[in-house]
Amino acid sequence: MSEPQRNKPLVSSSEAWQQLQQHATEMASQKPLSVLFEQNPERFQQHSIQLGSLLFDYSKQRVTTETLKQLMALARQQQLPEKIQQLLQGASLNQTEGRAALHTALRSPADAKIIVDGRNVVTDVHQVRQQMTTFVERVREGVWRGFTGKRITDVVNIGVGGSDLGPKMICRALRPGYGEKEPIRVHFISSIDGAHAADILPRLSPETTLFVVSSKTFTTTDTLANAAAAREWLAQASQHPRAVAQHFVAATADPQQAERWGVPQENVFPFWEWVGGRYSMWSSIGLTIALYLGMERFDALLQGAQQIDQHFSEAPLEQNIPVLMGLIGVWNSNFLGMPGQVVLPYAAHLSHLSNYLEQLEMESLGKSVTQQGGVVDYDTGPIIWGGVGSNAQHAFYQLLHQGTRFAPMDFILPIDPAGAEAEQYQLTIANCLAQSRAFMVGQQSEDPHRLHPGNRPSSTLLLDALTPHTLGMVVALYEHKVFVQSVIWEINPFDQFGVELGKKIATQLHQHLIGEGEAGEYDGYDSSTRGLLQRIEQRGKQR
Ligand code: F6P
Repeated sequence: MSEPQRNKPLVSSSEAWQQLQQHATEMASQKPLSVLFEQNPERFQQHSIQLGSLLFDYSKQRVTTETLKQLMALARQQQLPEKIQQLLQGASLNQTEGRAALHTALRSPADAKIIVDGRNVVTDVHQVRQQMTTFVERVREGVWRGFTGKRITDVVNIGVGGSDLGPKMICRALRPGYGEKEPIRVHFISSIDGAHAADILPRLSPETTLFVVSSKTFTTTDTLANAAAAREWLAQASQHPRAVAQHFVAATADPQQAERWGVPQENVFPFWEWVGGRYSMWSSIGLTIALYLGMERFDALLQGAQQIDQHFSEAPLEQNIPVLMGLIGVWNSNFLGMPGQVVLPYAAHLSHLSNYLEQLEMESLGKSVTQQGGVVDYDTGPIIWGGVGSNAQHAFYQLLHQGTRFAPMDFILPIDPAGAEAEQYQLTIANCLAQSRAFMVGQQSEDPHRLHPGNRPSSTLLLDALTPHTLGMVVALYEHKVFVQSVIWEINPFDQFGVELGKKIATQLHQHLIGEGEAGEYDGYDSSTRGLLQRIEQRGKQR
């Protein structure tokens, strides 16, 4: 690794950045979006891209040809094309942790070659995929059975963060049309308070339940506490020495740690340090998805993502969907001053998508120092939030329509109504298109309370249908969008040191709460923490 250059000038002092700043000032006094549409009947054709079963429409973003030209100049100045190739070929781009970020290798075809430390990682990936295929078939066909010889009917994923959100989002999204027809039900336990376990376990039978303990590190307190509770639940019911071996498997990048915990070696599905937790659902972390939907569907998900990887690698910047998504995000945030990004799927089954993207985007881009260690003087990752669009209309859209602050929106609309009643689904489509239009055109009114300023930007991702393939495309688009933004902002999207401090303090506090803390250690805490602890202890004594 080369020496970090903390004093390297920031991107904000570069020519391309400053020209964009100048351009944004000029744009402020220019025509609103509605006029741009009126004046250019080709605006949609010029600012939308169809890629297989997915259409990306960014014509309702506040960009002109000149804006795009300048954003492309910024991307080239930041060597984005070179960085994309480095990412895909396994260069050590995660500089703070000294490793590659190769989630794309997880969806590479078997004959691809990606060499890391002299080894073709694609061979390892396909070996584990084969292990998964064999296991998934055995469980789904009833060859793998529980301790009393009954078939597995329920799979419980125990994990948190990247080891929970991806599998949960995908299983929920593909339940209609896919999962609902399958013999296996899935459940997710993630909360550290044990509430999920308390909700879910009593409804299941230990004889027919398989637990997938998903954890990259296999040290996460939340997951280990839940896994221990599940093991205890099983032990109480089974009193059988082979029960853990028949009912627990693990997906992890630290197989030894899983074995020490008690998962037999043959039940461990490994992955690698170069897979970031929030980029890991394509690895063995996807085992729950594969058990639920079957390996073919899991493969189709990977193929959808692979189609985007190829597009990301080969399409010119101007026609490259994740590049455009990333650059438009930078434009909205750094030059038009919008503080967030809203994700609005118009499909009830995509209800977990915004949670998934919150981790992907905010854990990746929530950084204030460059890869070189310099402190940024510009905004980085936006605040991401969202929810099912048609429900959100009745909740937070008011702010987006008339508030003083608003954020650009991504509408995600499948054309086919998976799981919905076809006629009723037309209401969903109408509402989605109505909202993006309303945000764009606004409404004049003499009554200031009824005035809609309009000119509020959005993009639409229109999917032919919600299938494993299109869903794989959508997720990979966002992964690469994040990467594009990290290159512009010169930050590392693959580490997450910010999450450690809270974990460390929680460990100390927990020692106190269970009576194992060092005497007097409380005294080092601030008066608020001390006061809260005292009240909690008092309350504990009263009960
Ligand atoms: O605390 C944050 C985090 O480390 C995430 O990055 C990760 O996805 C999650 O916790 C779970 O980690 P693991 O898969 O190692 O249990």
